[in-house]
Amino acid sequence: MNILVLGGGGREHAIAWALAKSPRTDNLYVAPGNGGTDGIAQNVAGLNAENGQDVLAFVREHGIDLVVIGPEAPLVAGVADVLRAEGVAVFGPDAQGAQLEGSKTYSKEFMDANGIPTARYASFTELEPALAYVRELGAPIVVKADGLAAGKGVIVAEELEDAEDAVRSCFDGAFGDAGNVVLVEEFLTGPECSLLAFVTGGKAHCMVTAQDHKRAFDGDRGPNTGGMGVYSPVPIVEADELTAMREIMERSAAATARDPFVNDYRGVLYGGFMLTPQGPKVLEFNARFGDPETQVVLPRLESDLVDIMLAVAEGRPDDIDLRWSEQWAVCVVLASEGYPGAYEKGKVILGIDEAEEIEGVTVFHAGTAKNFDDELVTAGGRVLNVVALGDSFDDAREKAYEACDLINFEGKQYRSDIGKRAAAGRAAWEN
Ligand code: AMP
Ligand code: GLY
Repeated sequence: MNILVLGGGGREHAIAWALAKSPRTDNLYVAPGNGGTDGIAQNVAGLNAENGQDVLAFVREHGIDLVVIGPEAPLVAGVADVLRAEGVAVFGPDAQGAQLEGSKTYSKEFMDANGIPTARYASFTELEPALAYVRELGAPIVVKADGLAAGKGVIVAEELEDAEDAVRSCFDGAFGDAGNVVLVEEFLTGPECSLLAFVTGGKAHCMVTAQDHKRAFDGDRGPNTGGMGVYSPVPIVEADELTAMREIMERSAAATARDPFVNDYRGVLYGGFMLTPQGPKVLEFNARFGDPETQVVLPRLESDLVDIMLAVAEGRPDDIDLRWSEQWAVCVVLASEGYPGAYEKGKVILGIDEAEEIEGVTVFHAGTAKNFDDELVTAGGRVLNVVALGDSFDDAREKAYEACDLINFEGKQYRSDIGKRAAAGRAAWEN
């Protein structure tokens, strides 16, 4: 089979890596890809992944049998719709389904209509009523831009004043059109946990739990990032919480197959949960694999990813058989100095081969490229995802950090406490 993956981050390297392991894969293309996909697939430069017609032309020209859409932007732009209408097998929901991620208001309405537990909220298109609602609920409180804002459109305000400022800056265009509609939401507490599911034909096949670390610095301090590290499974999740999360994913999947919402969602539904004292509640849905969650989930998958993705794309839920390794996976993100703010690019990266000699270690690339001298250099804020599989949580964490030490580039920055809080137990979340 010939497969095209759209995207170029660590998530897409992990997806391409898993697809490349399948005996069913012949030609594998990644558009645009990165310095890591370069070795296992053919990188495609210059293809506009958000333009369905351009992608369709590539599919025709290269005899592509399956298209896997990594990021949210092409999904929201309707690339899957264009391809599907032409009979191409696509892994990823259509534009309507992608609204579960693309519009927080739409997502909340979907949750309310289907009895999915989530934070209380109201959405606004005008400043004064939004401010009045903020004052009524009081701080702490959460303000969210409705649309896609690259993970930056959420402000958790400790003080009323900060919440009011957040509402004003949303309406003032701080997040572009994404902030034309503003959600004000009840503040929830508890550990966070991601549970992703393959969804097709109204059925959910849940993956394994993972927990992201969104803050830039140790001790969950500093600005929010795209994710600085992640691990799987999440040991602090109680059995009844896992059951509740799975049931929520199944109920949501069933709802996607019913009008008026989404007509046959075929892809990943990502449930971002908070484990509140009242039970798990959905913070957000995403319409795609998580980044960096994918980098710890897929290495634990023992089934053939091509079989799974094709069954999802073709609407055959009963043909999906997920088998998982019992091993623990820990991923530490190596970032450029200054990230998530401004950072320099083009720093030469050394030591990846040595790191991968450690048993169980795989390095997925996020922001890397080859320079004119064919050296691997930094090309983004998040540069590498260092993943280790181990027989215990400690084993996986130790190996991941051993590997991080072996890799070098100027300005290398990473958190030294990935998984530390969870290793200490649930009490570490009680304030
Ligand atoms: P989201 O993009 O909606 O997942 O929000 C980003 C982050 O903001 C989440 O991972 C949480 O840490 C935090 N957050 C979002 N909504 C809430 C809420 N209702 N209460 C507390 N924290 C929240
Ligand atoms: N890791 C968070 C996300 O992919 O949205």
